[in-house]
Formats: sequence, C-alpha cells, structure tokens
Amino acid sequence: MARLPSIITVFLLSLFSISIPVNRTQQLRFNKKTGEFRILQVADMHYADGSKTPCENVLPQQLPHCSDLNTTLFLHRMIHADKPDLIVFTGDNIYGPDTTDPVASMNAAFAPAVSSNIPWAAVLGNHDQESTLSREHVMRHIVGMKHSFSQLNPPGVDVIDGFGNYNLEVHGVDKGSNHESNESVLNLYFLDSGDYSTVPSIPGYGWIKPSQQFWFQQTSSKLREKSKAAPGVGIGLAYFHIPLPEYSGFDASNVTGVKQEGISSASINSGFFSALVESGDVKGVFTGHDHINDFCGEMMGVKLCYGGGFGYHAYGKAGWSRRGRVVVASLEKKLDGSWGAVKSIETYKRLDDDNLTVIDKQVVWSS
Ligand SMILES: *[C@@H]1O[C@H](CO)[C@@H](O)[C@H](O)[C@H]1NC(C)=O
Ligand SMILES: *[C@@H]1O[C@H](CO)[C@@H](O)[C@H](O)[C@H]1NC(C)=O
Ligand SMILES: *[C@@H]1O[C@H](CO)[C@@H](O)[C@H](O)[C@H]1NC(C)=O
Ligand SMILES: *[C@@H]1O[C@H](CO)[C@@H](O)[C@H](O)[C@H]1NC(C)=O
Repeated sequence: MARLPSIITVFLLSLFSISIPVNRTQQLRFNKKTGEFRILQVADMHYADGSKTPCENVLPQQLPHCSDLNTTLFLHRMIHADKPDLIVFTGDNIYGPDTTDPVASMNAAFAPAVSSNIPWAAVLGNHDQESTLSREHVMRHIVGMKHSFSQLNPPGVDVIDGFGNYNLEVHGVDKGSNHESNESVLNLYFLDSGDYSTVPSIPGYGWIKPSQQFWFQQTSSKLREKSKAAPGVGIGLAYFHIPLPEYSGFDASNVTGVKQEGISSASINSGFFSALVESGDVKGVFTGHDHINDFCGEMMGVKLCYGGGFGYHAYGKAGWSRRGRVVVASLEKKLDGSWGAVKSIETYKRLDDDNLTVIDKQVVWSS
C-alpha cells in the first residue's frame, strides 16, 4: 500500500517527460531558441534494490514510506522542472554492497534518464563495483545503455588508468552556419577518480593518475588549438566523483553552499588541479562523494563544486533535503541575431521539497 502511490507517480511522470529523440552519433548542441545548454548533475544516488531498499538519514516519520523509489521520483521531477540537455551522473550511482543484481540496479537507477530520451553520461564512484561486477564491467554496461553518451575510455588511447575517461564536445547551434557551430564551444571532461588506494603506504581513496592527466592535457590542448581562431570558444567543465584535495582550501567565508563534513579526497595530491589551471579552459569542476557538502568555491579562476547528495539510500542529514545541481551555459547573441561563443555559465541547486526550491544561484564563469 505504502509503495503503490510512488510507483504510480513515477509511471505518470515518465509519461510527461519531454521527448527528444537522440541517437549515438548525434552531436550535443546548444538550444537554438534559448542559446542555452543545460546540464543536470546527479551525485551519489546509491541505488540498490528499488522498493526493497530503505532510505538513510531521513526523519523518523519519513522512514516508513521511503525507498530507492524516492530517488527515482526526485530524478523524474528534476528532469521535468529543469529540462536538461544532458544528465551527468557523478558516481556511486549504485551502492554495490546492498545490490542483489548490479545490472538491475543500474537499469533502475538510470531509468528516468533513459525514458526521458535525454542524452546522459556517467562516471564511476568508489561503490559502483562493490557488488559482483568489476569497474570495467559496470562501465561497459553503462556505455551500452540507451541514450548513454558515456564511453569506456578514449578511442586511440592505449594506456590509461581506470574506466570511464572521456570527453564530450558541445557545439553551437545550426551545424555549418559559423565557426562556433562547427567547433566545440563547451568541452566536457569525464574522469574516473578511482575507488581506493592500492598502494599499501598510501591510505584512503583513489586519485586521478598521470596517464589520465596526460590524456586530459593532450585533449584540452587539441581542442584549444582548434578553437584558436575564435576567442571564448572552448570553455571546459570537468566531472568526476572524488573531490580534489584543493576542495579543503575553503571555509564558510568563501563558498556558496555549505560544508558540513570533511573533504574525503585522496590522502595524497596527484596534481590534477595544477593541470586544470594550466590548461586554462576548465572553469568548473563538479564532484560528489561527500553528500552533505554542496558548496562551490573559486580557486585560481576555477570553481570547485559539489553536486550535493541526491540519493535516498545514501547517507545524508535528516531534515536537510536531497538535492541536485544544474549548470546552465549561455551563448552570446550577436548583433545579426546569430549565436556566438559561450558568454556565461551559471549554476544552482534544486531541493527535493514540495516546490523543488531553487537555491544558491551563482556564476561559474563569465566572459
Ligand atoms: C517518498 O515517496 C513517498 C511516496 O511517493 C512519499 O509519500 C514520501 O513522502 C517520500 N519521502 C520523502 C522523504 O520524500
Ligand atoms: C562549417 O562547416 C561547413 C561544412 O560542414 C562548411 O561548409 C562551412 O564553411 C564551415 N563554416 C565555418 C565558418 O567554418
Ligand atoms: C578562504 O578563506 C580562508 C580564511 O577564512 C583562507 O584561509 C582560505 O585561503 C580562503 N580560500 C580561498 C580559496 O580563497
Ligand atoms: C512552497 O510554496 C508555497 C507557496 O509559495 C509555500 O506556502 C510553501 O511554504 C512552500 N513550501 C516549501 C517546502 O518551501
């Protein structure tokens, strides 16, 4: 009885979802009418066995009617409210230890993205492989799902650590009309930040390895070379799971959002932040992993942001709403009415309350 209304609501919401047909060779492009490209970040769903999996850290009165299906319902509601052009899942999409069948869990976790026909991309966290499938096989399944723009690893790269390192190019509007529509105006980088250290003398979580940094530098450099002709073309954003050690460089005085727990990055610094700052194109980094931190702070011209915990089976804070982050990139409108390069990138979060309240609107980057 208790589960029934939510199943019906989830079904009804999926019927209302906007229907944009996509295929795998399709290019990601800015919206012709609005000049926007909207990205929904979903961090730490921790999906397990659907209606059988209870919620963590909700108020006592919420507990009896709360399961993974609440995560599904929240995702449907956010898709409906924000109409993203891309949905990015930043890892711990499923919670391995509690899943009976990881494939079934993934299919259920990503189902709202699949049924909405919206392109989506995912990276791995540290819990996705803690069931019966290896990181490689988890990523292979994600790559093969409908409307998934995820890749196992970059084509033509023989040696790279991890699974799910790739980049996506977002082109301007109207193929062929101008330079901005022929090139990537927004470069999205996805990386596997690992799970746990395998080096006995280094405790704790994994990190972004030199092979991945090398690929990032090569890719960013190639994209910047291509867009040299037009200033502003080729602004970048990076998505991965585990926050960089630099996230510890903030306190309440210099962030938007909250820091309610420690920064669980790797215990060593592998230098990826320096690579990002050096490349110059990446203006925003979006991670998950620490569910009750949802802040965004700026360091050396780069915004370091958390998505904020999305999933109900993930630890959280009772009475503190689950949330998702939206990034909106906007193109400049030229005098002749055509769209140019990226003019600004903004972000906000939405809470899973009755009104899907929008909070913490801020600028990530502006020309
Ligand atoms: C979970 O979903 C059920 C059914 O739709 C709803 O009654 C309940 O309030 C939701 N719980 C939370 C914490 O949102
Ligand atoms: C864009 O590419 C098309 C071919 O796809 C070409 O005809 C056109 O000249 C290009 N425009 C610019 C401004 O580079
Ligand atoms: C944030 O403010 C604290 C002092 O309150 C300072 O120590 C820290 O360096 C600042 N961080 C950045 C990135 O500006
Ligand atoms: C939702 O909006 C209504 C009307 O503006 C308001 O009365 C109510 O307090 C809001 N609820 C939440 C949870 O913010």
